[in-house]
Amino acid sequence: MGWIRLDKLLAQSGERSRTEAARLVRAGCVTVDGQPARDPARKLDADTAAVLLNGQPVLDEPYRYLMFHKPAGVLTAARDRKAKTVMDLLPEALRRRDVLPVGRLDKDTTGLLLLTNDGELAHRLLAPQRHVWKEYRVVADGPLGREDVEAFETGLELSDFTAKPAKLTVLESTEDRSVSVVCLSEGKFHQVKRMFAARGREVLTLHRQAFGSLVLDVEEGAYRPLTLQEIAALRAAAQG
Ligand code: URA
Repeated sequence: MGWIRLDKLLAQSGERSRTEAARLVRAGCVTVDGQPARDPARKLDADTAAVLLNGQPVLDEPYRYLMFHKPAGVLTAARDRKAKTVMDLLPEALRRRDVLPVGRLDKDTTGLLLLTNDGELAHRLLAPQRHVWKEYRVVADGPLGREDVEAFETGLELSDFTAKPAKLTVLESTEDRSVSVVCLSEGKFHQVKRMFAARGREVLTLHRQAFGSLVLDVEEGAYRPLTLQEIAALRAAAQG
């Protein structure tokens, strides 16, 4: 919207004429950036100014996009009557803006969780046909080898569906433990754990280190807003 007269902005953003908007300003019903505004002709930057009419925002709040590092032991849910959820770890101001997790990580899984109040983008990113890649670091209870890599690449048969091809990279493998990185484009319930179980392995720890083009770079329990470039890359992924 850019720079605009206050009365024009009020008229454009609500069902009222310029005259009515000017009257509301003169009557002291409007604040700009926390200060009373009495001049209808005043110009302001609609992209940054906080304009309230009778205490209510006149302009749409911009969407929020956050990278959050989920710790183990918290649920990926908006709220829960007993257990702590990821939302309990965010400040009240963000919770009030209806920011929600995009997809789920199990209670014992750690790592990158995207949170946003842009419901349409969230919906698109989760749509099965979008193929947003997710990357997990997996510690499992036994060795992994070339056959496992090939099985992941071919598409593992699970009890109710065949997993899409996934890339398994084995970093360490001994008789009683392996460390690997798995990249997959699906996100079905317990999918990584089920894929490992299909190869006779139990997942001991699971950590998501990337979601699409986002790479986790905040400490456990911390969050940061995404940059404009990161948001643009997610939007591009959601179109694909
Ligand atoms: N796959 C799982 O099994 N669990 C998660 O939390 C994420 C992917």
